[in-house]
Amino acid sequence: MKKVITYGTFDLFHEGHYRLLQRAKALGDYLIVGVTTEAYDKTRGKLNVVDPLMTRIENVRKTGFADEVIIEESRGQKFSDVKKYGIDIFTVGSDWTGEFDYLKDYCEVVYLERTKNISSTMLREKNSRIQRIGIIGTGRIAERFVPEVKLVSGVSTQGVYNPHRQSAKKFAEKWKIDAYEDLEDFYAAVDIVYIASPHETHYAYIKSALQHNKHVLCEKPMVLVRAQAEEVFREAKKRGLILFEGIKTAYCPGFNKLIGIACSGIIGSIRNVEACFTKIEDPERRELTDTVYGGSFTEMGSYIMLPILKLFGENFKDVRFDAIRAENGIDLFTRISLNYPNGISTGTCGLGVKSEGRLLIAGTKGYIIAEAPWWKTTYFEVHYENPLEVEKYTERFLGDGLRYEISDFLSMINGNSSSEFKLTRSESVVMAQLMEQFLEMENRNV
Ligand code: CTP
Repeated sequence: MKKVITYGTFDLFHEGHYRLLQRAKALGDYLIVGVTTEAYDKTRGKLNVVDPLMTRIENVRKTGFADEVIIEESRGQKFSDVKKYGIDIFTVGSDWTGEFDYLKDYCEVVYLERTKNISSTMLREKNSRIQRIGIIGTGRIAERFVPEVKLVSGVSTQGVYNPHRQSAKKFAEKWKIDAYEDLEDFYAAVDIVYIASPHETHYAYIKSALQHNKHVLCEKPMVLVRAQAEEVFREAKKRGLILFEGIKTAYCPGFNKLIGIACSGIIGSIRNVEACFTKIEDPERRELTDTVYGGSFTEMGSYIMLPILKLFGENFKDVRFDAIRAENGIDLFTRISLNYPNGISTGTCGLGVKSEGRLLIAGTKGYIIAEAPWWKTTYFEVHYENPLEVEKYTERFLGDGLRYEISDFLSMINGNSSSEFKLTRSESVVMAQLMEQFLEMENRNV
């Protein structure tokens, strides 16, 4: 019996897929089809797959060509599948020509002519009109955002607005997008607003973008007052719009894997979380000169609060802040301590003090450690009482990682809300509350 194997995502199942499976089956007597998982697709840079795995499997099965369907979940699996299933022929479409020649030592490799003028990417783009993003603000994060947008299908950067016209013009020239001088013209030209302006301007921009019926992706910290967070989420809901706080860590695959493992029970019940993130900043920068909104906590507090809220939830018993301040009163190094009925946690962040910057999660059976930069999680370890017993986990984190957040935001806009749990509205509201409490304690005149 001649055994054939082929692989694919098979998203939005189309004629090209059908014809490929039909010809693959005709190559032999028994066809195995490997369907990729969402997680694997994400790590190989294929974002925005629409159909869930089970639907994609079902669609492959319905063709009647597959004698067996398997799941492809990691790189390197093809080689072991060829061995494991005793494969005679490996086949894929001609878009992959040459890519799998390394398998020729173990089986025959056939590249089948790809069906013209059809692909899942085309269908995804056709089904959901390209969403035009407008950026407010031209700082460092906005610079990183534009190239990441290019990697997500279904969105494009239309233009930029900044009340400082020169900055907007310079930014627009660099990225070959439009610069808008008038906010009304800007809103008229876009579907989505990405807010990357200074923290204190977020609230007003979110409100005005929502009032113009635009979806909003806002950099962290979204707002600095709890009531404002509640208000903007209410407004977005009322208008059927998506409002997302952009904390990139929340959407990155490695961080989600880490949270999943931490909550799986393998380290027992979680009792302590310590999260640290420091970055020595130039004293002349806004972060260290803006005496009302600057400082380490407003700048980085969102990152360190994230794992704590994810693991322990929002019902803490008490909160305490301690800070080391510069001469101008700005916090250079801040610690937030949140106590829960069954656990304690500390988050530390610094712009003027350097520390190790790691994430440590301690449980009743073991602990998890992720070294800096854990906020772009690629690696973490699980340790137990026996120091020799260590489990190591890795995950890919591509580029600046903003692509994951953009992709999740876009799928929410397109009606697929399965990523909402990654950073919930109520988590964002609690973060705003903690920002507010911190600024109050600092006697900042917000
Ligand atoms: N395929 C094909 N003809 C097409 C599209 C895909 O023969 N027009 C083949 C691919 O070469 C692959 C299999 O179908 O062997 C599964 O491809 P997949 O990547 O799932 O489909 P695409 O439509 O290429 O998806 P995308 O646009 O997301 O890359």
